[in-house]
This record gives sequence, structure tokens and C-alpha cells, in this order.
Amino acid sequence: MRRFVYCKVVLTTSLVWVLVDVLLLLYFSECNKCDDRKDRSLLPALRAVISRAHEGPGEMGKPVIVPKEDQEKMKDLFKINQFNLMASDMIALNRSLPDVRLDGCKTKVHPDELPNTSVVIVFHNEAWSTLLRTVHSVISRSPRHLLVEILLVDDASERDFLKKKLEDYVRNLEVPVRILRMEQRSGLIRARLRGAAATRGQVITFLDAHCECTVGWLEPLLARIKEDRKSVVCPIIDVISDETFEYMAGSDMTYGGFNWKLNFRWYPVPQREMDRRKGDRTLPVRTPTMAGGLFSIDRTYFEEIGTYDPGMDIWGGENLEMSFRIWQCGGSLEIVTCSHVGHVFRKATPYSFPGGTGQVINKNNRRLAEVWMDEFKDFFYIISPDPHCQVSIQRGFPDRQETRPYPPTPTPTPPSAPVHYVLFMESIVLSFPQDEQALL
Ligand SMILES: *[C@@H]1O[C@H](CO)[C@@H](O)[C@H](O)[C@H]1NC(C)=O
Ligand SMILES: *[C@@H]1O[C@H](CO)[C@@H](O)[C@H](O)[C@H]1NC(C)=O
Repeated sequence: MRRFVYCKVVLTTSLVWVLVDVLLLLYFSECNKCDDRKDRSLLPALRAVISRAHEGPGEMGKPVIVPKEDQEKMKDLFKINQFNLMASDMIALNRSLPDVRLDGCKTKVHPDELPNTSVVIVFHNEAWSTLLRTVHSVISRSPRHLLVEILLVDDASERDFLKKKLEDYVRNLEVPVRILRMEQRSGLIRARLRGAAATRGQVITFLDAHCECTVGWLEPLLARIKEDRKSVVCPIIDVISDETFEYMAGSDMTYGGFNWKLNFRWYPVPQREMDRRKGDRTLPVRTPTMAGGLFSIDRTYFEEIGTYDPGMDIWGGENLEMSFRIWQCGGSLEIVTCSHVGHVFRKATPYSFPGGTGQVINKNNRRLAEVWMDEFKDFFYIISPDPHCQVSIQRGFPDRQETRPYPPTPTPTPPSAPVHYVLFMESIVLSFPQDEQALL
């Protein structure tokens, strides 16, 4: 009998809910047909701003479609920077972007007293629209009191518009923007070091010259550094299409690794890292390595660990070198999943390097292997033998001291080796897909 009553109650409540759903559906489908009526409730001015902001090419991160008649010209322009320059030039320098964060990130409360930051951007013959869209996105999406300045380091660009025209333009921005010029082509590493040395903020944030920061990108990075000044933090790197400049959210389920050629690679975040965070995807992910273009670091900690290796040339390998350095000097490298910054990924580099790209990267990787990899460097030499390439490593690197183990593994360690280091390397190797483990 009681069961019958119970069933009746359940049935009637379900029916009521079905009815409510149907009514709601009816109401909203009605309203779709008469958007005007809904909009009239908004203030006209507000409505105008919203519609204008969402209408132009590329607004809200939408792809830009170049008209048929301009396609030939578009292909020519593409070669200059190896991305669709015509599309980029059509998009407003302050275009709107979607909020791609996890819901849990949007409501996160950060401490009031966050450290402030200087943003360092190195460029070489960058396009006007991508460089300034980077600058505008930093300015408009960073709380003013946290952004000390933007330092643009010009690595000996040849384009005229990057000279006086750029200086005049940035003078009128509401945040101090300084331009430093390298006398000769020096490469990413030395240009970044020059920029870093000139910063005044408590934190240095490095960005590439073709990025776009999204809403709330900065606070979670700075909050993590405030919590632990030895944590070096990267945002999730979203993809800005090199063809259409469409903005596409990146995944919080991949992190950085490398293969034995010492190429940076993305790998799925392992289960043990999900477990460590108790399944909370809004917490930072510890990552073995970083892509290198975008990260924030406490300025004094950057000095303590010896900054970049100034013996590395131009570009390549410096991101792994910095990653190894951080883990082996008591820090941690993390992807802050609540911070999203877009980046234009190119399929080819438009720049030439003195001496050729291959050789430069090879030499840099050798330095990396010699300085930081101990006996693990043999794996690299097996995969990339090159008897003609010699590197001399001067000492003067910081000691690998009281380093934090990265992430603990149950594997036993040989008693003679530094424990933290072996744990670090092994955990990376264990995270390799099977086919790469087979190389061992
Ligand atoms: C971009 O700037 C223009 C001109 O200052 C302004 O009218 C427009 O509303 C801005 N767009 C956004 C998305 O803020
Ligand atoms: C950055 O923060 C520090 C410490 O609060 C402060 O001394 C410094 O003046 C700030 N810099 C700027 C430019 O606001």
C-alpha cells in the first residue's frame, strides 16, 4: 500500500516537471523568433556596444574568411610571416574573444595582494597587427595595478613600421610600454635576457609576439606565484589558426614532455597527476617541460636559478633547458589551467638564422644534455650522434640543491645518483608512450 502511494507521488511530480519543461521550451522557442523584443529590455547603448563588438571580422574569436577576389594577394602576403597576414590585418587590434575557462575558474577568488608583473615580448620583423593585438590584449585584460609595464625587445627588425611608427603608437597607450633594441640579431634567448634585466615588476611574464590573452589570464598565474615563489607557471596555450585567426581553446589534459632527440612534445596528463589534484581540473598541473613561449616567473627566483643559459644561440632547446633547470633547482613547473592565452602556431618559420636552424638547435641541445642530463645524455647521443659538434660548458651554473622530487615514483634508485634527479627523469620516461619507451 505504502509503495503504491509512493509511486503515485513520484509519478505526479515527474508529470509536473515535464509540464514545466514543455512550457519553458515553448517560451524560449517563441522568443527566438522575436529577438528584437528580448533585446528591447536592454539599454540601447549597451545593446549597440555588444552588437558592434561581436560583428566585425574575427570578433569573438571567429574565423576570418577572405573574399574570393583577394585570395591571390592573400597567398602572397602569407609568405611574409608564415601566417595569414591579410586576415590578421582585417581583425580589430582589440577584438573580443570567448571566455574559454572551465566554469570552476570563473568563480575562483584570488588573494587581494597579488605580486605585480612586467611583460616581456621579443619580436623580430613581426607583423604590425599581430604584435599590437598582443599588446592590446595584455593591456585590456590585465588588472591595471598588476601590470607594471610592457617591454618590447626588438631583435634587430628591418621593417620600417617597427621603428618610429611603433614608438609613436605605444606612447599613447595607458600602460608604460618601452621598446628596447638589440644592436644586432641576437636570438630569442639573449633578447629575453636583455628584456628581463630591464624589468621592474616582481614577476616577469614572457609572451610571444603573436599572442592574445583572454579574460582572467593573469590573476591565476600571479596567485600561484604568490602561493609559492618557486613555481614557474604557464597558461594553457590556445590555438589561433594561422589560416583564419580563429580562436580555439586548448586542452587542460595535455602537458609537456620531450623525446630523446630533445624535441619538445605534448603528452596526455597522466592519471597520477589527476589523482594528486583529487580530480579538480582547475588546480595547476605539474608539467615536466614547457613549450617555452609563454610563462611567468618570480624575478628574484629567475636570478637565483641563473636565468637562461646565455651560451645558447638564437632559439631552440632553451625551453627544455629552462624546464630542467627549474626542476633541478628546487622549483616546480606548472600549467595553470585557469589561465588561457592564444598563440598563432606556424607550420614554418619565416626567419633565417646565421649558421642555419639545424646546427643551432643541435648545439643548444648538446649544451642542455651536458649540463643537466648526467648519464641520461647517452640516450640523446645514441639518437643524434654528431662527432663534429663540440660544446664546451663553462661552469657557473647553480647547484642542483634540495630539489623537490618530481612526481614521486615507486622505482628504486641507484644509491650513487642524486635521488631527485633520477626520479625526475624516470617519471618523464615512464610517461612516454610505449613506442618511445622501447628506445630504451
Ligand atoms: C575596440 O576599440 C574601438 C575603438 O576604440 C571601440 O569602438 C570598440 O568597442 C572596441 N572593441 C572592443 C571589443 O572592446
Ligand atoms: C610592484 O609591487 C611592489 C611591492 O608591492 C611595489 O613596491 C612596486 O612599487 C610595484 N610596482 C609598481 C610599478 O606598481
